[in-house]
Amino acid sequence: MTPRIPITRKNSGGYFHIEQLHAVVPPGAFSCSIQEYNEYLTQDALRSQNDHIALTWLLWERSTRSIVAYMSLIADAIKLSVSEKELHNLDYPFKTVPAMKVAKLAVSQSIQETYRGIGSFMLINARTLARMCNRQLFARTRLRDGGFLTVDADIENNESVLNFYEKNGFILNTEMNNKNRKTISMRKDIFA
Ligand SMILES: CC(C)(COP(=O)(O)OP(=O)(O)OC[C@H]1O[C@@H](n2cnc3c(N)ncnc32)[C@H](O)[C@@H]1OP(=O)(O)O)[C@@H](O)C(=O)NCCC(=O)NCCS
Repeated sequence: MTPRIPITRKNSGGYFHIEQLHAVVPPGAFSCSIQEYNEYLTQDALRSQNDHIALTWLLWERSTRSIVAYMSLIADAIKLSVSEKELHNLDYPFKTVPAMKVAKLAVSQSIQETYRGIGSFMLINARTLARMCNRQLFARTRLRDGGFLTVDADIENNESVLNFYEKNGFILNTEMNNKNRKTISMRKDIFA
């Protein structure tokens, strides 16, 4: 079996380019392991973007001109406990802090046979966008050293997905989770 090509920020430009969604993605143009995520991209993403509900970014493979991954980003706010705030050196009186959420993330199933690290690379891009917003658009998201990328890890559809986010530096939001959730709220400090 040919080893998969590891994708990093450095080599990614040779294989892929990322751009914001600007037209309908036809059915069948993207296929990950979860049908709901395929349908979201082809049926809902453009409308959500036009309505400013969620902005979607596509990763295109240069050689095949096909979509190999996408993510949808939205503004978010998370509650942090006293100890969580201490962890990030946030000595502000409010409990809720602003963040950017990765509302959807999916990688094409077939492309995972050729490359590894595409999902992680998408999170690097999300962090770059979050930092840019933080510095230029929503100054309040930078609370001293903290600025957060969040996700509701979809354990209903993908039981082991926590592992993927943990490997990418996300930690659990203790204030945001209860036992009955189908998703697990997590965060990553974008300046760490
Ligand atoms: C989850 C998903 C985005 C990961 O993308 P990917 O390109 O396979 O991830 P990466 O190659 O960057 O993986 C990084 C690390 O996480 C691990 N990982 C990835 N997906 C995992 C999973 N589902 N369970 C456990 N570990 C996982 C990888 O093994 C890798 O570990 P390593 O660095 O030790 O080799 C992709 O599998 C996907 O699109 N799944 C379907 C949709 C989905 O579940 N989206 C997330 C919803 S919250």
